Amino acid sequence: MLKNAAMPNDLDAFWLPFTANRAFKKNPRMISRAKDMHYYTPEGRAILDGTAGLWCSNAGHTRDAIVSAIQKEAANLDFAPSFQFGHPAAFETASRIAALAPGDLDHVFFSNSGSEAVDTALKIAIAYHNVNGNGSRTRLIGRVRGYHGVGFGGISVGGIVPNRKFFGSLLTGVDHLPHTYNRQEQAFTKGEPEWGAHLADDLENIVGLHDASTIAAVIVEPMAGSTGVLPPPKGYLKRLRQICDKYGILLIFDEVISGFGRLGHGFAAERYGVIPDFICFAKGVTSGTVPMGGVIARKGIYDAFMKGPEHMIELFHGYTYSAHPLACAAAIASMNIYRDEKLFENAARLEPIWADAIHSLKGLPNVLDIRTLGLVAGIDLASIPDGVGKRAFNALDHAFQKEGIMIRTAGDTIALTPPLVITENQIDEIVSKVGNTIRAVA
Ligand SMILES: Cc1ncc(COP(=O)(O)O)c(C=O)c1O
Repeated sequence: MLKNAAMPNDLDAFWLPFTANRAFKKNPRMISRAKDMHYYTPEGRAILDGTAGLWCSNAGHTRDAIVSAIQKEAANLDFAPSFQFGHPAAFETASRIAALAPGDLDHVFFSNSGSEAVDTALKIAIAYHNVNGNGSRTRLIGRVRGYHGVGFGGISVGGIVPNRKFFGSLLTGVDHLPHTYNRQEQAFTKGEPEWGAHLADDLENIVGLHDASTIAAVIVEPMAGSTGVLPPPKGYLKRLRQICDKYGILLIFDEVISGFGRLGHGFAAERYGVIPDFICFAKGVTSGTVPMGGVIARKGIYDAFMKGPEHMIELFHGYTYSAHPLACAAAIASMNIYRDEKLFENAARLEPIWADAIHSLKGLPNVLDIRTLGLVAGIDLASIPDGVGKRAFNALDHAFQKEGIMIRTAGDTIALTPPLVITENQIDEIVSKVGNTIRAVA
């Protein structure tokens, strides 16, 4: 294993995404390899992965079975078009993903990212109404503080202001539900808060304003992640489903981060006993190893398109790399590990241990709230008066440079989402390193 990968001597050309580029290039946080629960810097320093990379690496890093599956497929089938052709692993991957989804969510459309998965679901929802003769149903309803990736569809239904305000007028015909967070009512909750199910009723007001005949779909993350971890209030998602059913509105769950075990189940839909019409997935499907995303649609949605002459394309949508052979190989190998090592069950078993451990940070300087759900935690820190996000940025840098742990931040919230292979000792190590970090940035 190469311990000291050469450091690049020019950091200029790479415009890093969602990054403070000038600060990074002055003081880089460089990673050159990974194994299991750790990253390693080019100097060989171990960094505990508190974030599964970017909520992706659920099986831990560079797992042998996934590595060799990708290597084998690269030598066997480097690319195959999925437009009018197919390769066996694509069908197997779709069946395996559909088998993890509850109810009649049993058809899979592949993309390469979560953003494309969201665009795909929004487009299929509108097209579904169109092929059913309801062409006026085009409006899309998102939620304040929602994150649905960075395509124009995703930022339009999303509700994170900096992701929207620079990019013009976005899609028209979009409205938003209120977010579900209320610190006074919910602070320091483990799991789903008791307060807030009634916020789903706002959908009634939106229907009252626009009329159901103009609304195609509602999209929410079952647990809002990128805005700083907002677990759904008890009963909220069921209520949303009931109101959608009442008005013939399709319900999309964006499970790009909540899927593949993060909340102790294949999908959050199962945890909450709610069957949406679409589930968007990405990230954990390949344990982050090869880009892949997609949408799982209910049988009735797929069937609605299967009419007209059989030589005709039923849905004019797809990506060159939909169901790429390397992604399929990685997905099958990842799902094998999830099944054989019972990693979703492990996440469910660890949830109360994780919650107790993380909530022990209550009382440290500037900690305003802590939320935990599955193997996820959000820790709100008080902002430094002259700059929202500065304290958390300092924490991210200190954590990496001094404590040897990778954390994520959103505003002044620290988000923790470790790989599902984490041990109880490693949970304690996270708490200790994050505790030191919070004290250091006080
Ligand atoms: C809920 C949700 N949807 C969509 C996305 C976008 O995924 P990608 O970055 O793969 O486009 C993300 C990424 O974090 C996400 O959390």
